[in-house]
Amino acid sequence: MIIISNCKNIKNDLFDKNELPQHLAIIMDGNGRWAEKKGLPRSVGHREGAKAVKRVIANCIHFNIPILTLFAFSTENWKRPKNEVMYLLKLFERVLSKEKANLIKDNIKINFIGRLNDLPDSLNEKMNELFESTKKNNKLILNIAINYGGRAEIIDALKAITIKIVEKKLNIEEINENTIRDNLYTHNLPDPDLLIRTAGEMRISNFMIWQIAYTELWVTPVFWPDFDKNNLIEAIKNFQKRVRKYGGKIQ
Ligand code: FPP
Repeated sequence: MIIISNCKNIKNDLFDKNELPQHLAIIMDGNGRWAEKKGLPRSVGHREGAKAVKRVIANCIHFNIPILTLFAFSTENWKRPKNEVMYLLKLFERVLSKEKANLIKDNIKINFIGRLNDLPDSLNEKMNELFESTKKNNKLILNIAINYGGRAEIIDALKAITIKIVEKKLNIEEINENTIRDNLYTHNLPDPDLLIRTAGEMRISNFMIWQIAYTELWVTPVFWPDFDKNNLIEAIKNFQKRVRKYGGKIQ
């Protein structure tokens, strides 16, 4: 899957290698518009979107970005026409089956976040298989958000915390930001440093709403299937110009 050879023309000196986002998150939007603009079915946009996924993974590896989280399917995406939902779920399954060997070869640890139990059994089997066979890998942590919603994640965290209180394993007074963080799907990961959204919409769409409190945002008009290494470089270069204050004073 990983097209590292295509990245040879990326000049590392285009930006500061020591100031890379350690966790990059992406809202991959615009597959449908990409296809409609070309007079093609939306499914072709999703298929090309899958190619852009491979590309961005290769580029993260190339630039030593250690964590990548991709928003693949939201809890709201079930409202789409049934045939589009079925196509997407089958596409995920197909891509996961096809890419297993490459994920292992490229030392990628794959992880899935979201309400996974509501997904088809056959997809869950694939996800478990890939999680198990890549869990010792350490070059890139690839998080796929699937049947994911930020509010659903917070609700699930609240349920887990409530159970601990009822079972007297936690006192209400002890609840703090770490308690919430430790009960999110992303409990073992740092918050994203940079969130990229493609296709121009200036909104968050219920993605990692707790985790992006201090994340830098970059919105590009480029549709996801067209998103390439130069677009990634542009986003990172802009990220590197930002002064991150976390609500405090600049030193
Ligand atoms: C948003 O475009 C994209 C999606 C809802 C699906 C994302 C899926 C992929 C990129 C395919 C492969 C992914 C993996 C992880 C194997 P849209 O359909 O909302 O576009 P529109 O806003 O232009 O209609």
